[in-house]
Amino acid sequence: MNSRSVYDAAVIQFPRILDNRGNLTFIEARRHIPFDIARVYWIYDVPGGESRGSHAYRQLQEVIIALSGSLEVFLDDGMAQKVVTLNRAYYGLYVPNMIWRRMQQFSTNAVALVLASLPYSPEDYIRDYDQFKRMNGRQ
Ligand code: TYD
Repeated sequence: MNSRSVYDAAVIQFPRILDNRGNLTFIEARRHIPFDIARVYWIYDVPGGESRGSHAYRQLQEVIIALSGSLEVFLDDGMAQKVVTLNRAYYGLYVPNMIWRRMQQFSTNAVALVLASLPYSPEDYIRDYDQFKRMNGRQ
């Protein structure tokens, strides 16, 4: 079986240049991210209690970074679930394609930066959880 597992998702630690004037973190495209970055978007001004992105992608891979504040990423492969808390600007969560994921529990002023492997394509979304489970070979 070729299905994705939540254990394929992994936290990546980016370089940190600590400085009394303020810290600095950087990402180089082919060095720190396991795919070529095709698109960057960010989520901000999230009202308390709201969640975003309850779906999976057929092909898209992404890295999610809490640039400011904190949030949780809920991951589900149709069998196992995992919740990853992001609360430092030097961590990124790699999420492979074919993983159901939801961003939730945003703190006040949280900014979630998402690096994506493909341009925006509505056809790549799987928004029906039961269809996702069938496609990921878990049902
Ligand atoms: P979507 O990914 O559907 O967010 P969520 O799953 O949290 O509801 O994006 C919301 C809207 O934004 C959708 O109508 C399409 C648009 N959008 C773009 O045009 N380009 C993008 O890169 C993204 C991420 C979204």
